[in-house]
Amino acid sequence: MQRKILVTSALPYANGPIHLGHMVEYIQTDIWVRFQKMRGHECHYVCADDAHGTPIMLRAQNEDITPEQLISDVSKEHQADFADFGIGFDNYHSTHSDENRALASQIYLANRDAGHIEARTISQAYDPEKEMFLPDRFIRGECPKCGAADQYGDNCEACGATYDPTELKNPVSAVSGATPITKESEHYFFKLGDFEKTLREWTHSDHLQPEVTRKLSEWFESGLQDWDISRDAPYFGFEIPDTENKFFYVWMDAPIGYLASFKNYCEREGIDFNEFMKPGSDTEMVHFIGKDIIYFHALFWPAMLEGAGFRQPDNIYAHGFLTVDGKKMSKSRGTFIKARSYLDHLNPEYLRYYFAAKLGSGIDDIDLNLEDFQTRINADLVGKVVNIASRCAGFLSKRFDGKLADSLSDPALFNEFTAQAESIAKRYEAREFGQAMREIMALADKANQYIDEMKPWVLAKEEGKDAEVQAICTMGINLFRVLMTYLKPVLPRTAEQAEAFLNIDALAWSDALMPLLSHSINKFQPLMTRVEQDKIDAIIEASKDSMSKTDKPTQAKSVDSNIEPIAAKIQFDDFAKIDLRVAKIVNAEHVEGADKLLKLTLDIGLAEKQVFAGIKSAYTPEDLIGKLTVMVANLAPRKMRFGLSEGMVLAAGPGGKDLFILNPDDGAQPGMRVK
Ligand code: MSP
Ligand code: ZN
Repeated sequence: MQRKILVTSALPYANGPIHLGHMVEYIQTDIWVRFQKMRGHECHYVCADDAHGTPIMLRAQNEDITPEQLISDVSKEHQADFADFGIGFDNYHSTHSDENRALASQIYLANRDAGHIEARTISQAYDPEKEMFLPDRFIRGECPKCGAADQYGDNCEACGATYDPTELKNPVSAVSGATPITKESEHYFFKLGDFEKTLREWTHSDHLQPEVTRKLSEWFESGLQDWDISRDAPYFGFEIPDTENKFFYVWMDAPIGYLASFKNYCEREGIDFNEFMKPGSDTEMVHFIGKDIIYFHALFWPAMLEGAGFRQPDNIYAHGFLTVDGKKMSKSRGTFIKARSYLDHLNPEYLRYYFAAKLGSGIDDIDLNLEDFQTRINADLVGKVVNIASRCAGFLSKRFDGKLADSLSDPALFNEFTAQAESIAKRYEAREFGQAMREIMALADKANQYIDEMKPWVLAKEEGKDAEVQAICTMGINLFRVLMTYLKPVLPRTAEQAEAFLNIDALAWSDALMPLLSHSINKFQPLMTRVEQDKIDAIIEASKDSMSKTDKPTQAKSVDSNIEPIAAKIQFDDFAKIDLRVAKIVNAEHVEGADKLLKLTLDIGLAEKQVFAGIKSAYTPEDLIGKLTVMVANLAPRKMRFGLSEGMVLAAGPGGKDLFILNPDDGAQPGMRVK
């Protein structure tokens, strides 16, 4: 039976470039969609830029352009990146569109009129200079838990604490540098709790992956909170009907953007939009998303749709996050790789294959290991798949004018290949792409073994073996054709080139079953080349450059010139390496011949350490003996002219008399770790 499926990927924000993390999702969705289309289903794949919200408004202001100009520029870049990665959207739209404005109003008004919207006054941080309310991310200050400077309004990168922006110490607006004030304003809330019963049912009925359902259970337990869907002016978005200066929060109209893009497409293509939207429709609606946005898609979205009398999604498929070489993508390591930086140097089909080989149906993170990437592409795609064609094509074109034989020399082997069509199809359907790739590569191994055993290059030198050579190469080309059919969802461009080489129409899934005989093929052109290390190096290099330029430092305050500027950022990991201990100064003495140093003997409970400290200008030995201070206990020992120094004591100040060793309260015990 032919299915009718509407498929979406999450809408990328219009305020930044597409990077390889994003590409996990678009490649995953695209493979699934291409597979459905090859199977003969009616499948519509739509997406859009997510164009609203404060960051986009502010970025446009910074660049001195209108938000409309910004989102139009970014949309062009996004679409070029996607197209070059072979992402076959049927439509790419914007949330800042007429269709979305109309649908967002319709869905909001239906929910409002059914009593699911409530107005309440709340107080929020407000920037009195810029005259705007501040989202949490735009307030910075000292962490209320650990005191780290320059932390976001909602969580601390140093200690990991989460808190309310009002708890930050010495908060400043990241927009203007002003101190935020608290101000009241009326907001509109979507009463998610109204939908608890149907949501509980819906989230437990196979629409979601089991691990997602489990995650949601935790949220049900902690209670479904009302959702604030309004924002005050100035805001780049849609005004809420029947209000003044209130706008829909970006996440309210973003998922509606799926429908807006689809509607825009339906109108152009003459497809019945309403057939897809009505409850009980026999069409399917499937959303691919990252695991970070499950809450919005699995709770708010079905609830909003229900409140508006629309159908619910059939499936929400979440995926994990991309790491590079086992770590979070990082600008300083050069692993925050923009889609464009990759495309400048390497064939996009490689990454499509690599991600496919790594993807499963779960939400585990997936790792792009650059060494493994290179090995796997060279071994699988170049070494196994393309190699089959290149080993056979030459003989056929040189000796037989490209003509294939009229029968298969090993029908049993061909049947072994076609027998796996349904099993591989099941894997694609279930998004077990990694398993599908393994099955396909096992077949590729068999094809190569066949050619190894038949040795057409040996026969070609013998008299009277022409027919045999032609039969073997015909067999090889047919096995290659089956493999290309199976790989086509993953490697659309290579498949297209293979179709041109094989001189055939676009391959559909069922074409794999029938052999290609008595048919003329074209001259073979190399389909793929090996991944070279210098290409990978160039991508990393480009990623370092391109990102550091756009990395704007946070505004520095004007300060007393005695205070040094803050040093380059370190990560928490760097900090955690430093072992700071409370130390008791059990002895202190002058050092013969040194005019700055004192020799200290420090008791840190577990051991005694000898440290030469440059604090003589401010302290005499008598000042120090018996006092507590703080030392870096795991600093590699350093041999000095006067002896070995096994650490450092912490002191503050510009120097000279103005130098102060840190002095913990008397309650502290030598050896306690300082955190
Ligand atoms: N605009 C929202 C989505 C609105 S959908 C109605 C958004 N945009 S995003 O640009 O931040 O992310 C787009 C998609 O890419 C999300 O599904 C997100 O999970 C995914 N990814 C972003 N970074 C990613 C990785 N590093 N790894 C894997 N997926 C990632 O969220
Ligand atoms: Zn903290």
